Amino acid sequence: MAHDPLTASTTLCLAGPAGHGKSLLVRRLHEEPGDALSGKLGTTTSRLHTPRRRWLAIDARHESELLREIVGGGIEAPVALVVVDVRGAAAAQVGGLLAFLRLLGVRDTVVAVNRMDLVDWREDAYTLASAALVAAIAPLGLRSCVIVPVSAGTGANVRVRAGASWWTGPTLVDALDALPASAPRVGGPLRLPVDDVLADGERRIAVGRVLSGTVAAGHDVLILPGNRLAQVAGLAGSEGPRASATIGEQASVALAPGAVVERGDLLCSPDAPPKLTSVFDADVRWLGRGELSTGSALTVLIGAREVHARVASIHHVLDASGGHRPASAVRDGDVARLTVRCDAPVAVDDAKTLAAAGRFLLVEDGEVAGAGAIDASGYPDQRRTRPASGEVVPVLHQISALQRGARTGHKGAVIWLTGLSGAGKSTLAIALERRLFDLGWNVYTLDGDNVRTGLNADLGFKPEDRQENLRRVGEVAALFADAGLICVTAFISPYRDERTRARAAAGSRPFIEVWVRSPLEECERRDPKGLYKRARSGALKDFTGIDSPYEPPDAADLVIDTQQEGIEACTRKLLDFVVERCRNAPG
Ligand code: ADX
Repeated sequence: MAHDPLTASTTLCLAGPAGHGKSLLVRRLHEEPGDALSGKLGTTTSRLHTPRRRWLAIDARHESELLREIVGGGIEAPVALVVVDVRGAAAAQVGGLLAFLRLLGVRDTVVAVNRMDLVDWREDAYTLASAALVAAIAPLGLRSCVIVPVSAGTGANVRVRAGASWWTGPTLVDALDALPASAPRVGGPLRLPVDDVLADGERRIAVGRVLSGTVAAGHDVLILPGNRLAQVAGLAGSEGPRASATIGEQASVALAPGAVVERGDLLCSPDAPPKLTSVFDADVRWLGRGELSTGSALTVLIGAREVHARVASIHHVLDASGGHRPASAVRDGDVARLTVRCDAPVAVDDAKTLAAAGRFLLVEDGEVAGAGAIDASGYPDQRRTRPASGEVVPVLHQISALQRGARTGHKGAVIWLTGLSGAGKSTLAIALERRLFDLGWNVYTLDGDNVRTGLNADLGFKPEDRQENLRRVGEVAALFADAGLICVTAFISPYRDERTRARAAAGSRPFIEVWVRSPLEECERRDPKGLYKRARSGALKDFTGIDSPYEPPDAADLVIDTQQEGIEACTRKLLDFVVERCRNAPG
């Protein structure tokens, strides 16, 4: 369907500091006052007409309410109308807000420099305010930004040109009309967060609003996080039964009998599902009380699912010049890049590819305290697609672990070294192997680069490849331990969940997780294989620590700091630890 700017309406989000005249300006923009659609919880939504376009204007009292409307309402690519008082144009505040709104999909913005009547429409006052605004907004890389002097009080330069002879630019309404029209998104994979579930005998009816794609009777849907398929038996909308529901529409989806669905689930296309993960990176606007630091507890609302989470790490905070600075805390009004770790897996999209489904709200005491745009591209999908076959019956060995240990003098075990490339894992693993061998122990090292030339030669460095690499290594290491060997593994193993799985694979055998720690800068300085250099130049993609994440262990059995101590001391420490844990008790 062709996009007709005269019939489709664009969402217009009023933004800017409190008390600068937003609400009065919206009223001025109305040809006829009084067609407010709703006024709930500090927000007024109204229809507006300009000569060429229709708008749905959202005027929120606080930014947190605006975030709730945009993120909770699944609004994509709204236009921001920022209103600032010429006498205190708060450029840095506007820059911070727009930096974040851009991450939520805002591409076009109009800034109304308000209350020009209170400075007698002096050109120098406007020039000063607009120059500061341009300096704050230009680095953000928005598609368009127009600045217009107005007076919401008198209405000058809002709909009708008035106020100053020196102003040769557009009126506010002309500026809004001249913005590039964005075609509304159609199609895309289905994403429907389930706000409520009704029971109709054996059938379950999932109620929610479509964020992306279309749902229709007869379609198969995947229900996440449970990873179950179900068929859509029929649909009802607010106006009775219907064949399908699409983006922005509220739908009641009746599922074929037997389907299990809960409030908080996500219905999605089975052939283009989101990622299921308990960890992701996000650009977060924080408006809550107090500061966020590593370990801070968060309540995250993604779609209709609320989960408890923690700040796993703070990468940087955006600064006023559009760049970023390292930070150990996130303060009210900051936009920060965080790694967020949830208590349970959640279904997420990347904000860059599917804005409406790639965002979340942060909640504090029931109030919105921020929002985030998700980038889960560095983490693997945790959805299990291959259930173990029911027809497999394991055989039992006749040699017990005790019998094997009686012959070798030590238990079978997995010594799992994790750390950045260049941290010293392989060096330490090989040194440990030598020392244990010299003690008469049965030991073998599985090293990332070696295993990747054979068993895992089919795998690269995308998150799902690393996940499979570590799954296989975890299983092989467990078999080696079962055979009575000390199996030392030297893999970056960047994902906490995969390390947890490797530990689970080892079952009752000792599994010693060793964090071979060295700061990124030090690993990069060592750069034994020249790979950091290539990664920095962009010749090598998905390199851990540069453009692919590393999640440090939060409860390693042993931490070896290779920056603080030399190889000899590190090997000694590791050897002592392993011998202590794995030798058979005397007698
Ligand atoms: S893991 O992430 O899947 O655990 P693994 O330990 O097997 O990685 O392999 C890491 C080794 O592969 C590094 O020591 C390095 O020599 C090489 N390598 C090549 N490309 C990459 C990359 N993009 N990221 C990390 N290591 C890489």
